Amino acid sequence: MIIGGPASQLLAGRVAAISGEELALCDYKKFPDGESYTQVITPLADDLTIIQSTPSDQDLVYLLQLLDACRDRKIALVIPYFGYARQDKIFKPGEPMTARAVAAAINPLLGKEGRVYLINIHAPSILSHFDVPAENLDATPLLAERIASLRLRDAVVISPDKGAVAMARTAASALGADCDYLQKTRLSGTEVSMAPKEIDVRERDVVIFDDMIATGGTMATAISLLRQQGARSVYLAAVHPVLTGSAVLKLCRSGVEAILATDTLDRAVSTVSVAPLIASALKRLR
Ligand code: R5P
Repeated sequence: MIIGGPASQLLAGRVAAISGEELALCDYKKFPDGESYTQVITPLADDLTIIQSTPSDQDLVYLLQLLDACRDRKIALVIPYFGYARQDKIFKPGEPMTARAVAAAINPLLGKEGRVYLINIHAPSILSHFDVPAENLDATPLLAERIASLRLRDAVVISPDKGAVAMARTAASALGADCDYLQKTRLSGTEVSMAPKEIDVRERDVVIFDDMIATGGTMATAISLLRQQGARSVYLAAVHPVLTGSAVLKLCRSGVEAILATDTLDRAVSTVSVAPLIASALKRLR
């Protein structure tokens, strides 16, 4: 049985269709005071999969409610987009390590037989905060397959910072393209600066590859830089299209050719599905 949380309904439906599992009917709503309400209407199976991304605090509460409703069952938990993953360290005294706090809230609800699956988690150290085996699934090959279908000319794959270099390399080798990275310094939550490192992009199609696009600041800055350096076209590929506020406007104003992202979050640009990745991980488990 697949249980799709409110943030991952379409993806849960896709995983159920691929794996031939029953998709549970659920009810999600809010009480008049804003508190969340969850009910799994379909009778619960003993062995089930919960799929719920947590881009907001409310989605995290829905996830905790689902886990509690399924208590004492064997649960495979898939969190395609794990919110708070960038709060994986204590940067200043007095701060919490929020990614650890989120895992600590989930742990007691999972039971000993539980399993956790995350997708391209920002910091792999987060896996160690779970008490049960936790796996990081890699959606890079799925995005690379889509990029390959674009038939780009003299393509080069670029990571906007050192953090996404491994993903960019995987994509570049699948495409048989060159790979490089930029030097990013974060100035604030919305602004970054990039050193104008010379990359040979003149008259070439460029794909900037990152784990997520949040405010769009990183990608917009990278697009402007690469276009100034003579790139013919700049495509964006990201696993998690968080796309807060006016991110899409920023990217369009920078002159992006297209945004390719997965359905770890359900957005208009989520044209690459991670459902086959999740379905094959679940198949390995059962
Ligand atoms: C940071 O290290 C991440 O990999 C992304 O580059 C970053 O989170 C993107 O954020 P934004 O879109 O707000 O610049």
